[in-house]
Amino acid sequence: MSRPEERGGALAEGSYEEFLARHPEYRSTLELDELRAREFSRLDDSGQIYLDYTGGSLYGSSQVRSHERFLLDNVLGNPHSSNPTSRAATERVESCRRRVLEFFNGSPEEYAVIFTANASHALKLVGESYPFEPGDRFLLTFDNHNSVNGIREFDRAHGAETTYVPVVPPAMVVDEATLDEYLATARPGGHNLFAYPAQSNFSGVQHPLEWIERAQSHGWDVLLDAAAYVGTSRLDLGRWHPDYVAVSFYKMFGYPTGVGVLIARWPALRKLHRPWFAGGTITVASVQADSHVLAAGAAAFEDGTLDYANIPAVATGLAFLAEAGMERIRCRVLCLASWLIDRLLDLRHANGRRLVLLYGPRASDRRGGTVTFNFCDADGQLLDHELIEEQAGRRRISLRTGCFCNPGAGEMALGISRDELVSCFGQRPDGMTYEEFRTCIDHKGTGAVRVSLGIASNFHDVQEFLRFAASFVDRPAGSRHAEDARPERDAAESGGDGVS
Ligand SMILES: Cc1ncc(COP(=O)(O)O)c(C=O)c1O
Repeated sequence: MSRPEERGGALAEGSYEEFLARHPEYRSTLELDELRAREFSRLDDSGQIYLDYTGGSLYGSSQVRSHERFLLDNVLGNPHSSNPTSRAATERVESCRRRVLEFFNGSPEEYAVIFTANASHALKLVGESYPFEPGDRFLLTFDNHNSVNGIREFDRAHGAETTYVPVVPPAMVVDEATLDEYLATARPGGHNLFAYPAQSNFSGVQHPLEWIERAQSHGWDVLLDAAAYVGTSRLDLGRWHPDYVAVSFYKMFGYPTGVGVLIARWPALRKLHRPWFAGGTITVASVQADSHVLAAGAAAFEDGTLDYANIPAVATGLAFLAEAGMERIRCRVLCLASWLIDRLLDLRHANGRRLVLLYGPRASDRRGGTVTFNFCDADGQLLDHELIEEQAGRRRISLRTGCFCNPGAGEMALGISRDELVSCFGQRPDGMTYEEFRTCIDHKGTGAVRVSLGIASNFHDVQEFLRFAASFVDRPAGSRHAEDARPERDAAESGGDGVS
């Protein structure tokens, strides 16, 4: 049987050789093809082309087997008691906490690790507990995920000011001089929080980690949203010192879902004031005395019972990633992303116009493996992204369309102005469905197509997507392709159209 990457090469003649010639460093990642065959064979067995690693990475089968063994071999009780099964669970959770910090090369003297349900929960812990006061500042880039944007509701409730730093299309990066101007607006002696994604989940841009120290030197506490970054890039907390970091583990290694962390520097953690208390977060509480004393450190932020049956799987996932090699994963993903971008931008309609409008940097030095774009027809009109997702699905291609919970980046990329948005929201002051919103600004399009690569991606995946993309060459934006008339058509049959 041919290897998947060879099959990809055979499908688009000579392309694998051409790809290797253009990206010779890819050869150093070939062990990941073996990893895919060993750990992710379900992809090829089921004919799935998985291109949504920014949505969620995939777990290797050995991770699941190892965790199953752990669950079957151990008796775990609810932690924080002194009985033997409780102690066993506590020990596992605590060793996993240490492992998380080791993975990110953070020092326990500098950082605390708080287990959360996901990155959003970690971000909410910061937002609801940050000591915003009237006149304080919350500064964030335009391309934040909604779970960061939502912090503005907390800062407004306390009379602080929210300010967005624009990202500039088409590369979707921040102008450094502009950033300096915004950073200079920190309130002297006040509480100033600056938040940005280490990697944008919209454009794949990796913003400089150098911003952390720069912002801190201007008086900002820095909240780094690392959710979309850490699955394919190494975050070194020995080198970079953000005050708060948010992570979801399923985005790194697929399993477990439902576990994330807030990693916080001790002084930054002490700055947070929890707005409530819960089981597990206090040392003592009294009904009659109407008092409570918060526990010290991470415990004060971990409400109720932790997911102690799943948290040990985090250590397994981290070991899995470390074994695969973060540098190797990053190298592979960037080679594939670069090839994908170049080939997409090569696709042209008969009149010479480009099929693809890319949102994000073309060069590899400022990006990760998330590639976002729209397809345009020969007149430059955007093809409906929902139609693209539907048609991709018929080929068992999993990609994502829309604005990916990142409305600011979407608004910048698509050139939707504040006035247009205010007018749309104004038309429906009592609420609006997504469909109504779409219709309101429809002539611009409200979203994009996102393809993202990760640990198990290979050349074949990318070639399959390129074949699919090529099927839109010379297709008018309004037309539904012949393929649409036959929804039951098998994915394998539909592979031959429009390939050039
Ligand atoms: C950059 C970024 N931040 C935050 C989140 C929220 O992650 P979760 O849904 O796991 O809480 C995501 C999810 O896509 C993301 O990509």
